Amino acid sequence: MGTLGRKDLLDLEGLTAEEIGMILDEAEAFREVGLRPVKKVPALRGRTVINLFFEPSTRTATSFHLAAQRLSADVLDIKVGDSSVKKGETLLDTVATFEAMDLGVLILRTAHSGSAAFVARHSRASIVNAGDGMHEHPTQGLLDLFTLRRRFGRVEGLEVAIVGDVLHSRVARSDVWGLLKLGARVRLCGPATLCPQALAAVWEGAFPGRVRVVHELEAALEGADAVQVLRIQLERLQRFLFPSTREYSRHYCLTSARLRGAKPGCLVMHPGPMNRGLEISGGVADGPQSAIRGQVANGVAVRMAVLHLLAGSEEAA
Ligand code: CP
Repeated sequence: MGTLGRKDLLDLEGLTAEEIGMILDEAEAFREVGLRPVKKVPALRGRTVINLFFEPSTRTATSFHLAAQRLSADVLDIKVGDSSVKKGETLLDTVATFEAMDLGVLILRTAHSGSAAFVARHSRASIVNAGDGMHEHPTQGLLDLFTLRRRFGRVEGLEVAIVGDVLHSRVARSDVWGLLKLGARVRLCGPATLCPQALAAVWEGAFPGRVRVVHELEAALEGADAVQVLRIQLERLQRFLFPSTREYSRHYCLTSARLRGAKPGCLVMHPGPMNRGLEISGGVADGPQSAIRGQVANGVAVRMAVLHLLAGSEEAA
């Protein structure tokens, strides 16, 4: 076990502000490694890291692979479609098979909420949740916090709007827990079907007065320091939760004109992948206030920090 004192990273709901701060501080140190000509440290030498993704991924899978490589781990990406999962092997038997080959850390993405915690209870390896259904995506939450802290020097006291399909978003859940724990205020914004008032009740109970739900984008942006635009998850929409994509875009697409209603310099974030023209305009995504590429770059440093704190030895960093 590494210096975080935990075997697994399953969510941000279960982390303390101090633990989140420790990961962000460590990420700051690993960001410097990424700027070196030789981007490698021996922190995970001799450890095996496996990426097991049951859902598509570009950013998370790639950045975990790079992070593990930069820590000198042996890293494998399993193609689920070419694995014995296709012959009916269970998730636990698949993980036990990896354990027999001395698995150190499993990076797991599945469509099922709670699956990372389930595997963690049955495995000696460290399990990192890379997104479980609609539950959480903790390393995305951490890299979003890291991006905010680098831009503003702090997270405490920031006003952050999270806009879009909050209901289906594991990113939103991790973001909200992390933001509240570090002292920010959150405005959740979207149509009532994707951003119901009831969704905020758990957070409101834990952090009274620091979460509010608004249904007009203009109101969410007013005075915001940063806005995280969420992807409309067309693959998870099982019924019509808004009349049409054109209608959604008319009310909730973050355009340059709407962004002018936020604080000057309001930071624009999006976890990716983007539906350009649906939830965010190309002009805003590629514009001067966009931190979207920075979020991706920060993801490598944050994931190095997570892997090192869970499974590395202090001396080898
Ligand atoms: N943000 C995110 O999880 O992106 P990927 O699905 O590409 O990993």
